[in-house]
Amino acid sequence: MKTLLFITALAAIVIAAGNSDINESGQIVISSQVEQDSFNQQAAIDAILESIKGREEEPAEEVFENIQLFGKMPAGRIVRVMEMGFSRSLGVNCTHCHNPNDWASEEKPTKQIARDMMNLVGSINNNLLKEIPNLESEQPAVNCTTCHRGQVVPATNME
Ligand code: HEC
Ligand code: HEC
Repeated sequence: MKTLLFITALAAIVIAAGNSDINESGQIVISSQVEQDSFNQQAAIDAILESIKGREEEPAEEVFENIQLFGKMPAGRIVRVMEMGFSRSLGVNCTHCHNPNDWASEEKPTKQIARDMMNLVGSINNNLLKEIPNLESEQPAVNCTTCHRGQVVPATNME
């Protein structure tokens, strides 16, 4: 009985928070809430932007600790690239490549893979595509989305 009361109370709180759903069997679905609580991407982005306030236009390598590739890019734009270019194109959030308590850390191998993937994109765009005559576009290009399309492992055949 106590447990039931507890669950009911919890349900009330969760429903009050407006972040839950009740499915056909009457179960409360709070998975998205749990996910949000453990890592809130928008909050992380806001916190980083706040911490570099006034320095957004400075080269990233002077503002951040461990920039090997995007050194000359304005610091403010790095955050945008992380969000739109990297996270969204792979269908992941920041924690796929980062420990959000230590953005400069290299502890996740996916972070270096992302740099290597940047090089791959560079080779394709600057070398390989240029060698193909008679393409429609004047400056044909690929980016992360071209292959990943919201997935960590790009598809190799049609569904
Ligand atoms: C696919 C992997 C990947 C994802 C996803 C990703 N990042 Fe990154 N992030 C990198 C790489 C690679 C670097 C280093 C870039 C370089 O060396 O120029 C980096 C660097 C950074 C840095 C600079 C850290 C420092 O002090 O040197 C910050 C801050 C950062 N990312 C924030 C984010 C945020 C916020 C998100 C989510 C919105 C995110 N990243 C998502 C790969 C990723
Ligand atoms: C030409 C196609 C192609 C492009 C463009 C491309 N990737 Fe990949 N990527 C792959 C393939 C193939 C794999 C290997 C997937 C597997 O493990 O089978 C991969 C794997 C990865 C992984 C590791 C997957 C994991 O386990 O998390 C990361 C991270 C990644 N890519 C990031 C990027 C980023 C960031 C970009 C843009 C700078 C990018 N990729 C552009 C094809 C591509």
